Amino acid sequence: MVLLIAICLITGTAFTASASRMMGDGKMCSMMGRMPKTGVDPENLPEAESSEAKTYAKFCSQCHALPNPRRNSAKDWKALVERMDARMRMMSRMGGGMMGMIKRMMGRGRVEAMTTKEKEAVIAYLEKHALKTLDKSKIASLDAPEYKTFEKICSQCHEPPDPSVHTKSEWPRVVRKMEENIKEAGVEAPSPEEKELMLEFLRLNSAD
Ligand code: HEC
Ligand code: HEC
Repeated sequence: MVLLIAICLITGTAFTASASRMMGDGKMCSMMGRMPKTGVDPENLPEAESSEAKTYAKFCSQCHALPNPRRNSAKDWKALVERMDARMRMMSRMGGGMMGMIKRMMGRGRVEAMTTKEKEAVIAYLEKHALKTLDKSKIASLDAPEYKTFEKICSQCHEPPDPSVHTKSEWPRVVRKMEENIKEAGVEAPSPEEKELMLEFLRLNSAD
């Protein structure tokens, strides 16, 4: 039991399947379900050939799928990279004893930690290519149901995005992608009426 809790603390979702097999359910780890399961291939990253993109891909795909830089706002990335840096340093230090055993069980013998310079490069890279967020001062009515529905559904995983990053005709496709993300993360999905309201908000404030 103690071992399983330690595993949960260190691995997050990595043990969802095996922990739930061992325990009969996966609920014992509150952090579970939070490790990115899908992401981008390194060659599809923005500025894929830059050394910053390569540093990002090298360190941030060691434990889970490489997250799309656009999944978080610049504001959220810095704190997140600090949290991941702590995880990496902890994992890279683990040697013998129980921690070493957990590490071997995870099949992650060689987690490498970032130097301060590499960490700064990763933060700068993610901030540069982050999700563009909504400027509320540009929104005519913050009391309208269209806005409120958008805010409720579209701020569950990242800050509310800037509607002007896509055209009217692009938004339905992006929203379909977000519905897949919603399904995967198990957060609140919009009802058909809410989806219409949300799309209306996006169309009203789109690039065109
Ligand atoms: C040592 C393993 C490890 C490495 C290396 C690692 N992560 Fe994670 N990551 C985790 C674990 C465990 C979780 C789930 C628990 C959590 O959120 O802290 C997670 C969760 C995440 C999440 C989802 C959490 C959320 O709140 O949305 C993102 C995004 C993420 N990592 C980005 C990164 C980035 C960026 C890097 C590189 C700087 C990185 N990870 C490197 C282990 C790692
Ligand atoms: C379940 C979590 C989740 C929710 C809820 C969510 N998103 Fe996202 N969003 C993501 C992830 C993950 C990415 C990065 C990868 C991708 O594009 O799927 C992202 C990226 C984006 C991007 C940048 C990528 C692009 O194609 O321009 C936009 C814009 C966006 N989301 C808009 C929205 C809108 C609008 C909503 C509400 C309908 C929404 N998101 C709700 C997870 C979510």
